[in-house]
Amino acid sequence: MASSEPQPTPAKPHVLLIPYPAQGHVNPFLKLAKALHARGFHVTFVHTEYNHGRLLRARGPSAFDAGAEGSFRFETIPDGLPPSDLDATQDIWALCEATRRTGPDAVRGLVERLNSAGGGVPPVSCVVADGAMGYVVHVAKELGLPAYLFFTPSGCGYLAYLNFDQLVKRGYVPFKDESCFSNGYLDTPVDWIAGMLPGARLRDLPTFIRTTDPDDTMVTINIKQCELDSPAADGILLNTLDALERRALDAIRARLPNTFTVGPLGPEVAPPSYLPSLTSSLWRGDDRCAAWLDGQAEGSVVYVNFGSITVVTCEQMDEFAWGLAAVGCPFLWVVRPDMVRDGDGGWRLPEGWEEAVAGKGITVGWCDQEAVLEHPATGGFLSHCGWNSTLESLRAGVPLLCWPFFSEQVTNCRYACEEWGVGMEMPREVGRGEVEAAVRELMAKEGKGAVARRRAAEWKEKARAAVAPGGSSQANFERFVQEITSATK
Ligand code: UDX
Repeated sequence: MASSEPQPTPAKPHVLLIPYPAQGHVNPFLKLAKALHARGFHVTFVHTEYNHGRLLRARGPSAFDAGAEGSFRFETIPDGLPPSDLDATQDIWALCEATRRTGPDAVRGLVERLNSAGGGVPPVSCVVADGAMGYVVHVAKELGLPAYLFFTPSGCGYLAYLNFDQLVKRGYVPFKDESCFSNGYLDTPVDWIAGMLPGARLRDLPTFIRTTDPDDTMVTINIKQCELDSPAADGILLNTLDALERRALDAIRARLPNTFTVGPLGPEVAPPSYLPSLTSSLWRGDDRCAAWLDGQAEGSVVYVNFGSITVVTCEQMDEFAWGLAAVGCPFLWVVRPDMVRDGDGGWRLPEGWEEAVAGKGITVGWCDQEAVLEHPATGGFLSHCGWNSTLESLRAGVPLLCWPFFSEQVTNCRYACEEWGVGMEMPREVGRGEVEAAVRELMAKEGKGAVARRRAAEWKEKARAAVAPGGSSQANFERFVQEITSATK
C-alpha cells in the first residue's frame, strides 16, 4: 500500500576516488571521476597535499572549482614524504613506500570525516582506489564499503604484475647477480605466462623485475598488490579496450571475472566541456603549441614527449637535439623542467642548435598532450610508451617511435611494435644518427612508418567505437555504474 507520508529523497551514491599521486594516474582518474559525476554520482576526488599545492600553483583555485555544482569535491591526504613546494615529479620508490605506510590511516580518517560532514555530502558508498594502492581495499572492507581497484597501466602490464609471484616462485626473480643485466638473461622466454604475447621475454616484462634484491620494494609491493589485493576488490577497472588486448584480458578475467575495461578514457567519456576548469595537469601547458601546430602542414610534425617521470642525461638530450635538428621535419619537443637532473643547473640547448634548426621546431616545458596528438599537423610521436601516451596516440591515430624508460613501458612498447603494428622501437642507447634515421623512418610516406600510420588509423576507429554507444567499453562502464549504484541502495 502506498504511504501518504513524504518519502525522504534517497542520498546520491557517493564515490570516493583515490589515485596514486603521479601524473599518469591522476589523469585517467579525473576522467573516470567526471564520467561518474555526469551519471549522477556525488564525487570526492583525493589528491595528496603535495599535488594539491602543485595544481594550485600551476592552475590556481579554478582547478578545484566545480562551480555551483557542489557534488564534485576535492580532498587532500598527506603522502608521507617531508613537505616540499617543488614542482617536480617525486621519487616514485620513496613515494610508494611512504604512501603505503601512511595511506591506510589517512584514508580511514578521510572516510570518517566525509561521513560526518553533513552539508550536502552523502555518506561514502563506494571507493575506487588506484591499483598501486591496493591497501585501500582492505580499509574500505573494514568500513563495510564496496571497493574497486583501477589499474591505470595497460592490461598487458597488469597481467605481468599478476605473474610477478610466479616469476619469484619459478626462480627468475630476483636475478642471480649483476651479470644478468647484460649476459642475455633478459632474453629468456616467458611464454608460460598465459595470455602474454607469443615470444615474450623477461625484457618485455615491467622493469621492476630487474633486481638482485629479494626484498626489493617494487617486487614485494607489486606482488602483494596484484596477488593479494586484486581478488579482495569487488572489481577491477582497466583503461583499455577489449579489441586491443583480448588475449591478456581473457587471462586476467579467468582470474578476476569482474574486470571492467572502460578505455580509452577520453573526450567521449569526459568531454573537455564538462566541468572544464577541473584539471589534473601538474604543469601548466605552453599556450604557443596550438597556434604553432596550426601553421604546419598536415601530418608533418613529429611530437616528442617522454611523459612525467622519465629522467634523461645531458648527453642523451644533446643527441636527441642534434638528431631532431638533422631530420629536417617540423617538431614539437617537450622538455620537462625536471627531466634532466645531471649537469650544473640542468640542460641547455646546445650552442649553434637554434641556428641549425632554423625555426623548424619548438621546445616547450609542457603541453596539452591530447590536443597536440589530435591536431591534424601531428604525424608521429616519439614516446616513452607510458600507457596514457600510448593510448592517447592510438586514439588519435598517430604512430609511435618507442623509447621506453621503465616499468611496463617496455611491455607497452613490445605490444605496440609486435602486436598492434603501430610502433617502431629505438634502442635505449641512441646517438644523433640513430635518432635522425628512426624519426625519418617514422615520418616517411612509405615503408615501416607508413605501415604503422595505417595501423594507427585502424586502431583509432576501433578505440572510438569502443567508447561510442554500443561499444564494449561503454557497455562495461554502464555495467560498472549499475553495479555501484545498486550497491548503494
Ligand atoms: C607512467 C605511465 O603511466 C605508466 O606506463 C607507468 O607505469 C608509470 O607511470 P608517465 O610516465 O607520466 O606515467 O606517462 P603517461 O602514462 O604517458 O602519462 C602522462 C600523462 O601526462 C598523459 O595523460 C599525457 O597526456 C599527460 N601529459 C604529458 C601532458 O598533458 N602534457 C605533457 O607535456 C606530457
